Amino acid sequence: MLDSQSILNVLRPVQDPELQKSLVDLNMIRNVTVTDGHVSFTLVLTTPACPLREFIVEDCEKAVKTLPGVESVAVDVTAETPQQRSLPDRQGISGVKNIIAVTSGKGGVGKSTVAVNVAVALAQSGAKVGLIDADIYGPNAPMMLGLSAAQVKVQQSGQSEVLEPAFNFGVRLASMGFLIDPDQPVIWRGPMLNGIIRQFLYQVDWGELDYLIVDMPPGTGDAQLTLAQAVPMSGAVIVTTPQNVALMDARRGLRMFQQMQVPVLGIVENMSYFIPPDMPDKQYDIFGSGGGQRTSEELGLPLLGCIPLEMMLRQGGDRGIPIVVEYPDSASAKALTSIAQQIAARVSVLALA
Ligand SMILES: Nc1ncnc2c1ncn2[C@@H]1O[C@H](COP(=O)(O)OP(=O)(O)OP(=O)(O)O)[C@@H](O)[C@H]1O
Ligand SMILES: [Mg+2]
Repeated sequence: MLDSQSILNVLRPVQDPELQKSLVDLNMIRNVTVTDGHVSFTLVLTTPACPLREFIVEDCEKAVKTLPGVESVAVDVTAETPQQRSLPDRQGISGVKNIIAVTSGKGGVGKSTVAVNVAVALAQSGAKVGLIDADIYGPNAPMMLGLSAAQVKVQQSGQSEVLEPAFNFGVRLASMGFLIDPDQPVIWRGPMLNGIIRQFLYQVDWGELDYLIVDMPPGTGDAQLTLAQAVPMSGAVIVTTPQNVALMDARRGLRMFQQMQVPVLGIVENMSYFIPPDMPDKQYDIFGSGGGQRTSEELGLPLLGCIPLEMMLRQGGDRGIPIVVEYPDSASAKALTSIAQQIAARVSVLALA
């Protein structure tokens, strides 16, 4: 039967070419109507100047015309800013005030390092803090927080099971690392991603939290989409490195979150410059300089801070003692603490807006 559901079904495989995600999942297809074989719907973009709009419209029309009985297709293209959009069904976590994602387009740029140290720095300032390690393929937050050997308890709460988070340095942690045998192959985890992220949100005994930080896997993939669709988020922090290529990735990340009505709090530039351990007063711009500043200007986002490349930062991560705890006076610890303060400030400003 030709109805709005069958139209949505046939449109579901059509992707936003830049984000490579379903237009239907991105909530870009609305108001589908079918009258005597005449199909119409609204395509909602975040900017009317979207350079790909003609392609997207064409892909939609092609898909709908494959359905038998379709006489015509009318696509009404509109744009709305994130502020104008109504929030689809999202369920908050009781007791949890602010959920903040730390994300990046590329792998290995320092998301987990930033997420862990920002979480600990917020806890040091007196806030109640939780951390979700949403990287189900390479969960390393337990190691960075000195919790590799932690045993987490599962408790029965009424009908459902609730996970007790692990705890260290003032931060409550839930991670796939606690639930799997590290030697088990990771292929089976993909299809369960959605369920696992929801479990980490709703089936962990978080208690009262001022901030729940989510350390994301790299990219603009299913984890980002699942998170943004599930809970109302205070914002996302995008981590980049100074190279030019990182700009493109950051832009894609920004669009993805805007599309999902999640405010982007700002950009963190990591590995900005190198401080040799034996010459702490020297700095070398290994990857060039000013990339984070340019990216933030181009995207119109605040630069929340720049973190130097410091051996102590990596060593602290490997040893399980975050640098903001072990060497709070180092340049990178100071940068991370200031970034945590900026994030807290941006979240309160946006909450009042
Ligand atoms: N500023 C820095 N100085 C020195 N080492 C760093 C710095 N930032 C990150 N590292 C090191 O680089 C490696 C990658 O960092 P991290 O795991 O935080 O990146 P990621 O973006 O979370 O990676 P993935 O995409 O795999 O999740 C780690 O060994 C970390 O200790
Ligand atoms: Mg990581």
